Amino acid sequence: MSVLPIVMYGTPSLHETSVPVAEITDEIRRLAADMIETMYAAKGIGLAAPQIGRNIRLFVADADQVEIESRNPRVFINPEIVEESVEDEPYTEGCLSIPGVEGEVWRPSRVRVRAKDEHGNAFELEAEDLLARVIQHETDHLNGVLFIDRMEKSKRALLAGKLSALRRETEEALGAGAAQGKGGEGGSAD
Ligand code: NI
Repeated sequence: MSVLPIVMYGTPSLHETSVPVAEITDEIRRLAADMIETMYAAKGIGLAAPQIGRNIRLFVADADQVEIESRNPRVFINPEIVEESVEDEPYTEGCLSIPGVEGEVWRPSRVRVRAKDEHGNAFELEAEDLLARVIQHETDHLNGVLFIDRMEKSKRALLAGKLSALRRETEEALGAGAAQGKGGEGGSAD
């Protein structure tokens, strides 16, 4: 297994809709294992494939991660949120692809998700609290949506400076990465 580089805000893959995983192959299993290792190395509780530059519908999550002994990683392939609670609740979110930025987001407090695991087994899971939060945040990633897109406009406006600095940094890094071609995928403006 290996730790993969996490792409940063402004990278096209973060702003695009991902496609379903057609077949759960060894390559997909290896990718999921690498993503779990990458998530732990970054001290995250979730990581979606677009964050490592792959636009496929796959994310990993571990909301129990506190100590190594209590780790409980899960792989979600082609996830679908099939039910959500009427009640919303606020929580201050962050994202490994948007370092140094946090913000309050309201989301349903409970969800039911349907997905396949890395062995191709279909499962349904009812989640609440932090796990429900992570599932929604990561599912958003698969649709090119970031938590900042769900913040109240006035609160997001306060982050505009930080976000455009980060975007500029990312675009410069991508530009320096040679054959990247001039960014046709402008992404959303802030
Ligand atoms: Ni994120």
